This record gives sequence, structure tokens and C-alpha cells, in this order.
Amino acid sequence: MFFQEARSAPTRLALVRVGLRADAVVRTDAGVLTVANPFGLATARGLPPRVAAVLRRLPGTLTGMDDLVAGLLADGGTDQEVALLLLTLDRFNPILVHEIGPLRFVPIARDAVLHPPVLPADRPVRLSRFALVRRTGEELVLESPLSRHRVTLTGDALPLLGRDATAEEAAHLVAAGFTEEADSAVPTWDFHDLYFHSRSRAGRHDAPFGATFSGDLPPEPALKPVPAGPAIDLRRPPSEPGPPFTAVLESRRTVRRYGAPPTIDRLGELLHRSARVKHLSGPSPGVPYETSGRPYPGGGAVHSLELYLVVGRCTGLDQGAYYYDPAAHRLVTLPAAGADRRAMLDLACAATGGLVRPDVLITITSRFRRMSWKYSGMAYATVLKDVGGLYQTLYLVATAMGMAPCALGGGDADLAARTFGLDWASESSVGEFLIGEAGP
Ligand SMILES: Cc1cc2nc3c(=O)[nH]c(=O)nc-3n(C[C@H](O)[C@H](O)[C@H](O)COP(=O)(O)O)c2cc1C
Repeated sequence: MFFQEARSAPTRLALVRVGLRADAVVRTDAGVLTVANPFGLATARGLPPRVAAVLRRLPGTLTGMDDLVAGLLADGGTDQEVALLLLTLDRFNPILVHEIGPLRFVPIARDAVLHPPVLPADRPVRLSRFALVRRTGEELVLESPLSRHRVTLTGDALPLLGRDATAEEAAHLVAAGFTEEADSAVPTWDFHDLYFHSRSRAGRHDAPFGATFSGDLPPEPALKPVPAGPAIDLRRPPSEPGPPFTAVLESRRTVRRYGAPPTIDRLGELLHRSARVKHLSGPSPGVPYETSGRPYPGGGAVHSLELYLVVGRCTGLDQGAYYYDPAAHRLVTLPAAGADRRAMLDLACAATGGLVRPDVLITITSRFRRMSWKYSGMAYATVLKDVGGLYQTLYLVATAMGMAPCALGGGDADLAARTFGLDWASESSVGEFLIGEAGP
């Protein structure tokens, strides 16, 4: 507690500067002081007008705790009012900005709390392996998925890289979860996974999130311009009842044993039933971009996924690399290098533990800007969820057709971009799926 700490560590009053985020709005109404902030409302009742006046000045400012107290006393405030001010600041801790030396701790989540322990001056602290420093706008910030604060590095920037932190700075870093102490709770997480998890859901950051739409930029079209190259029309299967859905669901499994190669008609049927464009819709009120309907679900009907095939064995289709044109239901031949195609198949084979040499490798890419034009924070997560929906659709259709499906968990996005002639940053692979005919 700040008040208690202020007594036990009186230096802290002099060292710490506090304020409220600039976007906090303080109102007093019928004796109730309300602070509207990005995470909700904080209220305090029955505050003396002099204390309320101090709090009203806090948004967008930083003042030393001792200066706040001195100012209140200079205004005629009593000891009781000083105590009330400190208690109220403590209650508002989750929405208070704290500045200590060159470190400004900004709360970025609903449950942000900063209660620095009292550390011995010579206690070493090391940054968490999840902490990262980056530029945002004109500021250099320290962030960590384990923290509900962002630290703006002010003035004497990068203090922790250039010199040891003071005991007070260290105490604040420990309290905010930026030091090694926080890592023991997450021993198996990779840095990038935890950062992605924290930023692709709400709750631990204050960045734009959800369907925010990228204002000035036009949306990508629903359909990718079809690459130039010889096209091969695929068979459209008749609409006829297949095996009962529950039987398909119950018998679905991964098959890594192949029989005869699939035929181009069977491949065409699989792609038609699982990945074709069923219909297109123009922009409409509330949905200011083209959408399409496909057999598998897609977040926001954005459908950023594209399918590419590397064919090892397929009756009626030459070995090669192809783009699946989902609107025209045909394959477009791509001028991929043989060595790249072989490397793609080798890698997919290795991903099965060498169990099977793929007959057909389906590589799923995402046209990233299609998704990130609409969504902030959750665009890539939505892409991966879409891949899951497509995986299951491919699994179920293949099972219903008696084929051999196998999803893969990883692939080389750089190699795939080169094989299919794509720009890695604009469109590259996010999933792989093997298909063949089930063997004995
Ligand atoms: C996201 C995902 C990634 C997968 N990655 C691989 C893989 O890299 N190699 C592989 O042989 N199987 C892979 N599989 C198949 C799983 O091993 C398989 O689904 C799991 O063993 C359960 O067996 P079942 O599909 O027969 O129910 C993957 C499946 C999914 C859903």
C-alpha cells in the first residue's frame, strides 16, 4: 500500500511522480469523484473539495508525491486531508501512471497494480526474458506480456542497458513484472508465443483491438488476381448425399499410408467440396468490403486464405506447382523450380516423421492485408483460426470421400513464397495439408 509504504520508505514519496493517463476524465458530481479511464470507472465518495481538486489536475500530468502533499498543505489542507489524498491515490493505483527516474509505468490493463517492494540497494535484478524494447511513435517503450504496464523510457533512455537500476527503479520493475522473478510462472512459453497471445486477445494491452478498419487504405479484393499461366478446369462433382455426417465425423482420422495416386477428378471434388467460392457479395452497410462464401467458415467473411498445390503423384495431372482458383474452380500452372518443389515435398515428408512421401501437398497461404485491413491486434490470430476451420473441412470431406488426409503443423514460409512466386510479407504460407488415396 502506498500510504503504508510511504511511511516505511519515506524516500519513495520524494522519488515517485504520479499522474493519470491523459485519456482519463475526472468528474465530480453530487460528492462522487469519478475517473473514466480506458478500463472502466474508478470512483471515490465524500472527498473534501481540496482533495478532489488535486485529483482533477492529475490526467496528463506527472507530479512528485511530495509536491502533491506540499501543494495540498499550502492550500490550507489538513493532515487528515493529506492522509485521504494518499489513501485515494492508493485506491486509484490501478489507473495511476508512476514515474521513477527515467522509467514511466503506464497502466495498460484493467487489473494493473503497482506495489513496489522495498529492495536492498545492492539486490541485483535482471530483466525478464519476455521483456522487449521498441519504438512506438516518438517513444521508446519497454513491454512484456507478463506485465500490465508499459514502461516509457524517458530522458536518460535505456537505463537498464547502460547502467544498473537504482533500488527504487528495480523495485518498480519487479512490481510491474518486468524482471526474471516473473518468468518462473511461464517456463515453457517461447517469447514470441507469449507476446502473440498477450497481444492477440484483449485484457493485457491498450492497443487498438478488433474490427477497426484501416481508414484510408482500400480493402484488398475478395478474390486474388489469378496468376498468369496455363489453366486446367477441374470437375464439379454432382450434388448428391454422401455418407451420414455423424459417420464421417466419427471415422475421421489422419491417414499416412497411401495406395494408388489420386486422380485429378478426385482432387477436383475435394477442392470443390471444401474450398471453392460459393458466392460473392459486394460491400454493404456495416460490411464495407467484398465478401465471399466458402464451405469453411472465415472470420468476418474476409477469407484471406489461398491454396497452392505441389503435386508429386496425381493421375491426370503433371507433377508441378499450381494455384487453386477458387472462383473458377481450376488449377493454374505456376513456373516453380523443380528443386523448390522437391524441397517442399521433402519438408512435408519430414513433418510426418518420414512416414509418407506426399502425393499432393496443399499449402495454405494468407493474403495478410485482406485481414489486417479490417482487424487490429487479432488479424493474424484470426488467420490461424481460419486455417483450423479449413483443416477440419478438408479432413471431413476427405474422410467422406475415403481419401487419406493429414494436416501438418509447420512448413517453410520462405521456401513456399519462392516456390509459388509470392512476396513473403504480403502473402505466405500459414498451413500445410497432405492428401492422397488411403492405402492398405
Ligand atoms: C494443427 C495440426 C497440426 C498437425 N501437424 C502434423 C504434422 O506436422 N505431422 C503429422 O504427421 N501429423 C500432424 N497432424 C496430425 C495429428 O498428428 C493428428 O491429428 C493427431 O495425431 C490425432 O490423430 P487423428 O487426426 O487421426 O485423430 C496435425 C494435426 C493438426 C490438427
